[in-house]
Parts: sequence; C-alpha cells; structure tokens
Amino acid sequence: MLRVSMVLLKRQLILWVWVSSALVVYSLPWRVSCPTGCVCQMKPWFSPQSVSCEASTVDCNNLFLTQLPSPLPPDTHTLRLQSNLLSALEIPLLHTLPNLTELDLSQNRFSCVRTLTLTQPQAASLPSLLSLHLEENQLWFLPPASFSSLPALQELFLSHNRLFYLAPGAFSGLGLLLLEVLPDRGFQDLGSLHSLVLGGMGLKGLTERALEGLDSLESLSFYDNLLTTVPTQALRRIPGLKFLDLNKNPLSVLGLNNMEELVAIERAAMENLPELTKLEITNNPRLSYIHPQAFLRLGRLESLMLNSNALSALHQHTVLSLPSLRETASMIRSTHTNKA
Ligand SMILES: *[C@@H]1O[C@H](CO)[C@@H](O)[C@H](O)[C@H]1NC(C)=O
Repeated sequence: MLRVSMVLLKRQLILWVWVSSALVVYSLPWRVSCPTGCVCQMKPWFSPQSVSCEASTVDCNNLFLTQLPSPLPPDTHTLRLQSNLLSALEIPLLHTLPNLTELDLSQNRFSCVRTLTLTQPQAASLPSLLSLHLEENQLWFLPPASFSSLPALQELFLSHNRLFYLAPGAFSGLGLLLLEVLPDRGFQDLGSLHSLVLGGMGLKGLTERALEGLDSLESLSFYDNLLTTVPTQALRRIPGLKFLDLNKNPLSVLGLNNMEELVAIERAAMENLPELTKLEITNNPRLSYIHPQAFLRLGRLESLMLNSNALSALHQHTVLSLPSLRETASMIRSTHTNKA
C-alpha cells in the first residue's frame, strides 16, 4: 500500500524557523547604480549564527513593486523587498546575484513556492542564500523539495501563510536548514488545530516546548523522521492527545529517512496522556526494546500497534499496565516472546 504522501493540516499551519533579529544602528554609503526608489547602502548584517558583517544592502521595501527592480548591483548581499505586490520572481535576474545571502520577500503575494525557486532541474539558483523571508504571503502548499534549489539555506521564515499541505520531503535538499528540531512554540497560534502530521521533515528531535499551544490537538503523527527517542517532554505539553503515531513509512515514494534511528522506548516514554486511545509504533527497523513501564497512566488506551519493529520480546507488563486495552498487534521476531 502506498501511504498517503501528503500532510494535511486542518487549519492554517504557522511555521517559523529560528527568528533572528538584526538591530540596524548605522549604515555607510555604497556607490553603485541603485534601482529607482530603492536605497543601496552598506549595512550591518547578522548571520544565522549571529556573526555580524558589513553587507551591501538593497532596500526596496514598500514600493508597490510587481516585479524585481533593476538594475540590481551584482554584488548585492541583502535584498529587501518587504511589503510589495510580488507574486513571481524573474529567476534569471536573481541569477546575476551570486553573492545574494539574504532575501526578504515578506508581505508580498506569493501563492506558489515554485514561482520563487523554479529553475533548471538540479541547478542551484541561489548558491549563497542563507536566509529567506516569506512571512505574510499566501503560500498554501509546499511540494516535495520546495527549496532544493537553495542548497545553502539556513533560515526559512514561513509564518502567516495559508499553509495546509506540507508534502513529506518539502524541506528535502536543505541539508543545512536549522529545522532538525522544531522551534519552541512554533505552533502557538494553532490552538484549534485538531490534527498535525509531521512527516518526512528530517526531524531529529522535538524540544520540550515545540508543541506548546496546540490545545485542541487530537491526532499527531510522525513518520519518516530521524527521532532517536520518543519526544516525551514535548508530548507532556499536549494533554488532549488521542492518537499518537510514530510510524515510519516503508513505501515512501520519497525514500526519506524512516525513524531509522529510533532504537528504544524508555521508561515513562509515554506517560499521563489520559485521552490517548490508539498508539501505533510500527515499522521502525531498529526499534528493539520497549521498557516494561514505557507506557504509564494511559488509562484510555484501547489499541496498541507494534508491528514491524525489531522487537525480540515484549514484557507482559507493557500490556498489562494498560487497563483499557482491547486491541494489540505486534510481530515479535524471535520465538522467545513474553507477550500477554
Ligand atoms: C562575490 O563575493 C566574492 C567573494 O567575496 C567576490 O570575489 C566576488 O567578486 C563577488 N561577486 C560579485 C558579482 O560581486
């Protein structure tokens, strides 16, 4: 069976990644021919790692632009196009800026990410771009490898769009993106979100506060990620969680990483989730150990799926500790099973 390779979020997803702030305190003249209406200056710039430098900056904010201004100085480092009317970019023009490092397209009219990044297949269009601002546009869908033509990208700002589809692998190709761990409270404005799928995002962990604010969340699914442990601390912040799915997707059309790093479920990995009724932990090729007291105070858990892991034994206490359990499935590889 081909697993549905889409991510559906019932409400708007607001995803922001690593907010950095740059306080502009002074600027120096930069003698170039500057596009009409724009201001070209040398300005302090802070890298995603907060290292500052003098950056050649073209500031074209608030100009009602519907297309890129020109001529853009070839050694532009920072290009600010905030609050314009852009819905597409002339990619060849951007190609004339090999050192473009930060591009601010926030508060424009982009509805499709391909109009930003489409280029020759496999060609890196903006090899130096570290920081891309797309806040407050009308993006609703991120297809697979949305940003793969931006191989150096480290910061991606997507808040206040209309995203409700994130394809698995939407961020693939962004080896350097600081998305390995979701930011704290990245979903804080989504108090009415019922269902969240974080699939194929290359996540290596969740911070304790990553899921904070998801007060209505009933269904949470991870698959094709690189989590090494159950994100216990993060889960404690979701009291209403009913369905937790830590699956990998063995038939992923994208062939992404499939929770291959999940090795063990430790004691109290899932504790005090009083609404949880269904728990699936399947198809994790290295998952070989579940602590007898891994699941504590899951009073309503009815269904426990543990198929296709590398488990060779399951302690009977693991299931006996679940008073409401009605359905369980597990395939234990070894003959020495100890399963209730
Ligand atoms: C880009 O930066 C490099 C290294 O600083 C510099 O040698 C080159 O001239 C710059 N390119 C342009 C088009 O300014």
